[in-house]
Amino acid sequence: MNIVLLGYPGSGKGTQAKTLSVAFSLFHVSTGDIFREAMAAKTPLGLEAAGYISAGKLVPDALVLEVIKERLRNETGGVLFDGFPRTVEQARALDSYFSSAGRRIDAVVFLDVEEESVVSRLGARRTCRKCGKIYNLLTSRPANEGSCDSCGGELVLRDDDSPSVIRNRIKVYKAQTEPLAEYYKAAGNFYPVKGGGSPEAVAAEIAAVIKGKVGR
Ligand code: AP5
Ligand code: MG
Repeated sequence: MNIVLLGYPGSGKGTQAKTLSVAFSLFHVSTGDIFREAMAAKTPLGLEAAGYISAGKLVPDALVLEVIKERLRNETGGVLFDGFPRTVEQARALDSYFSSAGRRIDAVVFLDVEEESVVSRLGARRTCRKCGKIYNLLTSRPANEGSCDSCGGELVLRDDDSPSVIRNRIKVYKAQTEPLAEYYKAAGNFYPVKGGGSPEAVAAEIAAVIKGKVGR
C-alpha cells in the first residue's frame, strides 16, 4: 500500500501523515522534513535547498528525485508520501520508479481545504524543533506555550511561515502542484477528502479510503 497526501501548504498533510503512518505501518516520507533536517545540519543538500524554501519556491525536480531515491533505496514496505510529488514531472518519475519495481501508488488523497483557512492555519502553526510535532495556537495548543508536550523541545514558527512566503507558496502550489489532480484523476487513483473538519474527522475519512483499498 503506497499513499500520496496532496494539498495546499497547511492543508494538514504532516498532521495526518504522523498518525496514519503509525496506524497503517507506512514509511512516512516528507520531502519538506528531509530538507529542513538538511538545512539544520547545514549539509550540501540543505545549503542548496535553503534558497528555494526561504523564497517559497519549489526545490528543483532533479534534486528532489535524488533525495527520494536515496530515501527509498532500502525500503520495501508501504510508503506514505507527504509533500511529494509536487510537480507532474515528479509524479511521472515516481510512477516509473515504482513500476520498474512492480509497485504502484494505490491512492492519492487530496486534502480539500479553503485557501483562507490554510493561510490562518500556517500563521498559527508552531513546530517542535526537536521531535517535529505540529501544534496550532488556535486549534491544537500545547499545554505550555513555547514547549512541546511530548518531548519538552522548543516550539518554533517555521521560517517559511511568514505572510509573504506563505502567499508565494500558495501561488506556486496553484501553478505547479494543482495540475497533479488532473494527472491522478486520469490515472484513476485520486480520492478527495474534506480537509476542513477536525484532525480526527479528517483522519477517519482518510482511513476509510485506505481501508477501502486494502479491503479490510
Ligand atoms: P513542506 O514542508 O512539504 O510544506 P508544505 O507543502 O507547504 O506544507 P506544510 O508542511 O506547510 O503544511 P501541511 O499540509 O503539512 O500542514 P500541517 O499538518 O503542518 O515543504 C516545504 C518546502 O520544501 C516547500 O515550499 C518547497 O520549497 C520544499 N519542498 C518540499 N517538498 C518538495 C517537493 N516535492 N518538490 C519541490 N520542493 C519541495 O498543518 C498546518 C497547521 O494546521 C498546523 O498548525 C496544524 O496544527 C493545523 N491543522 C492541521 N490539520 C488541521 C485541521 N484538520 N483543523 C485545524 N487545524 C489543522
Ligand atoms: Mg508538512
